[in-house]
Amino acid sequence: MQILGIETSCDETAVAIVTDQREIKANLMHSQLKEHASYGGVVPEVASRAHLDYLDGLIRQAMHEAGVGFSDLNGIAVTGGPGLIGGVMVGVMMAKSIAVVHDLPFLVVNHLAGHALTVRLTDDVAFPYLLLLVSGGHCQLLVVEESDRFRLLGTTMDDAVGEAFDKTARLLGFPYPGGPAIEKYATKGNPDAFAFPRPLVVRKAGRQASPFAFSFSGLKTAVRQTIEAIKPLSEQKIADVCASFQAAVGDILLNRTENALQWCRDNAPQVDKLVVAGGVAANQYLRGRLQAVVRQHQVAFYAPPVALCTDNGAMIAWAGIEKLQKSQVDSLDFAPRPRWPLEEL
Ligand code: KG4
Ligand code: ZN
Repeated sequence: MQILGIETSCDETAVAIVTDQREIKANLMHSQLKEHASYGGVVPEVASRAHLDYLDGLIRQAMHEAGVGFSDLNGIAVTGGPGLIGGVMVGVMMAKSIAVVHDLPFLVVNHLAGHALTVRLTDDVAFPYLLLLVSGGHCQLLVVEESDRFRLLGTTMDDAVGEAFDKTARLLGFPYPGGPAIEKYATKGNPDAFAFPRPLVVRKAGRQASPFAFSFSGLKTAVRQTIEAIKPLSEQKIADVCASFQAAVGDILLNRTENALQWCRDNAPQVDKLVVAGGVAANQYLRGRLQAVVRQHQVAFYAPPVALCTDNGAMIAWAGIEKLQKSQVDSLDFAPRPRWPLEEL
């Protein structure tokens, strides 16, 4: 079985061809960094137009690289949401057109499910597992019970963790997306230089909404105030802010994840693995800290290779394979969904 996967929900136009034998025959991506650079963030209308410009060429190139024609495919998978609606519409319309013309199964994939299932493509990880989903739009702890069954333990009360990276980066003058630059600078900085807050880390009863909920707005404000106070910024000060910010994020993520691991041990002992996924999972410092925690809790740890952490077509193609294996083919009536929580699957 081999499937063409299309991802257009944010600022990456991505296309891949993946087989049920876990072979990635092609995995291409056009990043729209140049298109959005002068705006300091992703502009939805600019993104949709760029998807339109690049998608057909990328599909042709991916099929050429994989050495397959449409008649060799078993289905077309596409991100149906959540995401920037214009971009999702471009991908969905393209996938529907191909499905109609070539009489192929049309498979709508939830973008978050794509991230959540990536470790099954790369490492054949069995259900169930605890998932820390950390991206530009989300920060959640979930139990992945099946390819289409997710139990949400906690989510963010304000910003997503990737957003916190991007906003901090912007204050420091780094281009979007800021995560990689912060990670790089942090290696040269002192993580104790600034005592940034760790919202919700306190565990006393009645002091927090949920032991699994995240909050990053207090951290964001503290970073902004600190940067204002220490201007002009030297290279060393920038590195110190990055290291201190990243350490605070690490503490927050670790505390929530440990609470979730504890909850699993008490309530769902069959959940014996921790998976981290989404763009922020590309961060080596955070991966290292999570790895240390799982050793203490004696659970296995999986993280996709860095290139498959950020948005890509392979994760969508793979999630499509999991759907087709369950005969979950979608109707061509499907309407793109800007909001689509995983629990609704
Ligand atoms: O999953 P993704 O590619 O897109 C969404 O679905 O949101 O995640 C993008 C996010 C951005 O906020 C970006 O700054 C962050 O992932 N990111 C990182 C790193 N690489 C990407 N954050 C921290 N460290 C990194 N190395
Ligand atoms: Zn994503």
